Amino acid sequence: MHFDVIVLGAGAAGMMCAATAGQRGRRVLLLDHAEKLAEKIRISGGGRSNFTNLQARHDCYVSDNPNFCRSALAQYTARDFIALVERHGIAYHEKKLGQLFCDDSSQQIIDMLDSECRAANVDRRMGVRIEQLGRGEAGFVVHSSLGSFSAESLVVATGGLSIPQIGATPLGYQIAEQFGLPLTPLAPALVPLTFHVDDAERFAPLAGVSLDAEVRIGKVRFRENVLFTHKGLSGPAILQISSYWQPGQEIVIDLLPDIDADAWLEERAGSEQLLANAMGELGWPKRFADAWLAAQRVNVRGKELTPKKRRQLAETLHNWRLLPNGTQGYKKAEVTRGGVSTKALSSKTMMAAEVPGLFFIGEVVDITGWLGGYNFQWAWSSGFVAGKNC
Ligand code: FDA
Repeated sequence: MHFDVIVLGAGAAGMMCAATAGQRGRRVLLLDHAEKLAEKIRISGGGRSNFTNLQARHDCYVSDNPNFCRSALAQYTARDFIALVERHGIAYHEKKLGQLFCDDSSQQIIDMLDSECRAANVDRRMGVRIEQLGRGEAGFVVHSSLGSFSAESLVVATGGLSIPQIGATPLGYQIAEQFGLPLTPLAPALVPLTFHVDDAERFAPLAGVSLDAEVRIGKVRFRENVLFTHKGLSGPAILQISSYWQPGQEIVIDLLPDIDADAWLEERAGSEQLLANAMGELGWPKRFADAWLAAQRVNVRGKELTPKKRRQLAETLHNWRLLPNGTQGYKKAEVTRGGVSTKALSSKTMMAAEVPGLFFIGEVVDITGWLGGYNFQWAWSSGFVAGKNC
């Protein structure tokens, strides 16, 4: 069967693209190997989908070239997606930092995109195994478990590698390689970091403790909660920094971002109180103060703190250096960092410069958003742009 456009992957970006192209009158075939539509939308945002972020800008994305996403984000903005959500009568709210969530359920976003695809006469087939891809006289040819389909345009929207248990595969990267497009290195991102054995032993009893802190790598910094887990560190600040982390790199944590630790310690210079007890004033959970100060070997009384020790402790409180030994991998990662190099794509259309008619959108591209709705906004924006041009 021949179509104008074949879209591979009925996830966030693929559905947006298929609906947009269909609304232009293009005959669109949308193929996916999963039985259910857009599983990642379903599980997103704790079941309520953090579907966009009011502050989505190119500098909230990690990429070899973050400027690449400027064009798509300008062609289809968070406001455009919100207007679509409102047209479908979906109630939503802002949680924090511009993050918008459904009041009810992420299923509403899936149903909305599905109904947009239906209105645009998109031919959707689920549970289809993609066997081979090639080019013929009729354009791109997709050989699948349902037979062969051809189209002038092929849009690859097969996502990244995270959460393989719900259908993530490397198909998109393989297609890029087949057509000679370069890839940037892939790694799990928005992912918990793991401790080395020594730190794991020292801090394992803290599993469940959460603190407001600032986490840094070089000039990149995020101020949000840090959560101790049995294996290492998680929580929004850690997930954010993980997208910038490279193996062998230290992360630096400011445990008291609002306080001058040296001045605070100096005020306790003559005190009989143990520091771990005094730390309660700062909002630190007692078991964290005990374990952390014990690890620094300074759980002493205020009066026992010499000026030199005080300065050292203050420095460590603001610059606690940790060397993670890895991440919890694709099973726990929200996204994949890296992907199809932006050098090979047009930022205005998402088409491969050297392969007319071939488009890559969404997470398969080397554009990784921060935590907080940025990844879906990239899926909507890149999907829309390709849908207008495929
Ligand atoms: P997506 O993964 O959505 O879709 C890819 C599609 O391709 C899938 O339907 C898949 O079945 C299909 N496919 C894959 N391989 C195939 C093959 N070989 N053959 C055929 N089909 C194939 N982001 C955000 O902005 N806000 C949030 O709240 C969250 N929350 C969140 C929670 C969790 C647990 C995860 C794992 C991720 C998030 N994200 C998120 C990230 C977000 O889900 C992700 O960035 C987008 O879904 C990416 O959209 P894509 O369309 O590119 O891929």
